[in-house]
Amino acid sequence: MNFHILTLFPDMVEQGLANSITGRAIKENKISINAVNIRDFANNKHRKVDDYTYGGGAGMLMQPQPVYDAWKSVQKDDAPHIRTIYVTPQGHTFNQKMAEEFAKEDELVILCGHYEGIDERVLEEVVTDYVSIGDYVLTGGELAAMVMVDTIARLVPGVLNNEISAEIESFHGNLLEYPQYSRPEVWHDKPVPKVLLSGNPREVNAWRLEQSVKRTKARRPDLYEKYFELQECMQLLLEQKLLHIDMIECIQRGGAELIYRNGREILLRDKDSDVYMHTNPEENGEFLAKLPLIKMAKIHCVVLHQECFIPLAQACTRGMAGGACRQAVYTRKEKLPISGLYRADGKPMPNGLVIHELREEDVQTAGEAYAAYGYLSMQETTEKKKEETIAEMRERFLDKALFGAYIRTEDGTESFAGFVGKHAEGSVGMLTVLPEFRGQKIALALETYMINKELEQGFTPYGQVREDNAASIKLQQKVGLCFSKTPIFWVC
Ligand code: ADE
Repeated sequence: MNFHILTLFPDMVEQGLANSITGRAIKENKISINAVNIRDFANNKHRKVDDYTYGGGAGMLMQPQPVYDAWKSVQKDDAPHIRTIYVTPQGHTFNQKMAEEFAKEDELVILCGHYEGIDERVLEEVVTDYVSIGDYVLTGGELAAMVMVDTIARLVPGVLNNEISAEIESFHGNLLEYPQYSRPEVWHDKPVPKVLLSGNPREVNAWRLEQSVKRTKARRPDLYEKYFELQECMQLLLEQKLLHIDMIECIQRGGAELIYRNGREILLRDKDSDVYMHTNPEENGEFLAKLPLIKMAKIHCVVLHQECFIPLAQACTRGMAGGACRQAVYTRKEKLPISGLYRADGKPMPNGLVIHELREEDVQTAGEAYAAYGYLSMQETTEKKKEETIAEMRERFLDKALFGAYIRTEDGTESFAGFVGKHAEGSVGMLTVLPEFRGQKIALALETYMINKELEQGFTPYGQVREDNAASIKLQQKVGLCFSKTPIFWVC
């Protein structure tokens, strides 16, 4: 990821980020810092970039021309303008969610002000986001820019050695991190809590959760309140666990945002996929009444857990309703046997079958096959739908959420036979075997592989199977998945 920082103090920014993790990320080309000196764009011999403010008032203001030319210098001719953040105490307060949003960009411009600020006219032309790092006033934007770069950079894949550490940390699932201890076992007469020496992961995790909750309640009551609300939802959702498995898993994973709750009516948003999930067992929801409040017009997909809400959901999406699907849930903790299906060490089976991450060159074929044989498509497969499916497949591939079955021959070449994956909102799916490879238990192997993978990562494996997909239902039954009694519906 490339950061272009427009500043009067480029050394300050470069030196400030040259050490520790950001320093290493720069050396390893995971991120780059292009500190652009706005003064280099002054068009006067004294390199002056500020002047008095019209209308009077204390202090000097940065003039529009050097700021604009510095900004122009980092834009590429034919490319769209790069997202440009002006760091200012008048902006939206920076938080982890914003950092995650910014981390999706390939490039960012951060504009640092000085003196009393920057001429409004240039801000109007170049700035896309106004961001403050807190309710206090710094002497300039450089420290704010550094805080933002540091926060965003650690979310860029590969910047932290341990990818997991960016996930399981403070703010995840609205909880602060639990206390941690290292050697020695006793320090200043204080022993490390006994449970951490027990070697029992279940007890350790339970203790950590308890500590996280306690700490959040004491230090961040605002976050605790969100956590508590979601836990209350969880209690209701658990009353119909199979039907609500998607919502339950979303909360468990720390990906849920509670948009709306009224008694038993719950509307969640999955932060990872931007999919909304709605339930109201009482079927008398105020869903529609709340639409303007919750900006339903912007929703691209809602998963409904009661059929009666389809017309309401259609009114706030593009209006396409998918067929009825059952939640298929693997409710056991033990992994499925793999013998005769695939090998855990990745070596080929006697028929040459191996399963591993999908190869990039197979994304297109997978997308086309899924559009043609997949059961998610809501209507006839149109050319547009096909393109969308391929694009979706590419996204899942980039998230490393697709796995391919390949038939490997003696010389090591592999033929692409089928695939399975995990949708962005958490369900297992897309299971497809290419026609010429059917009848060789490849679907069963892929299904088993995916369920075991989910279990290893601490998730409850589940999928959403269309009621009219007899082949899939048969397969799910064979591996012992349990079905929700009533269906769910996707409305996009
Ligand atoms: N510039 C001055 N104060 C600032 C703040 N609090 N956040 C961002 N930029 C600033």
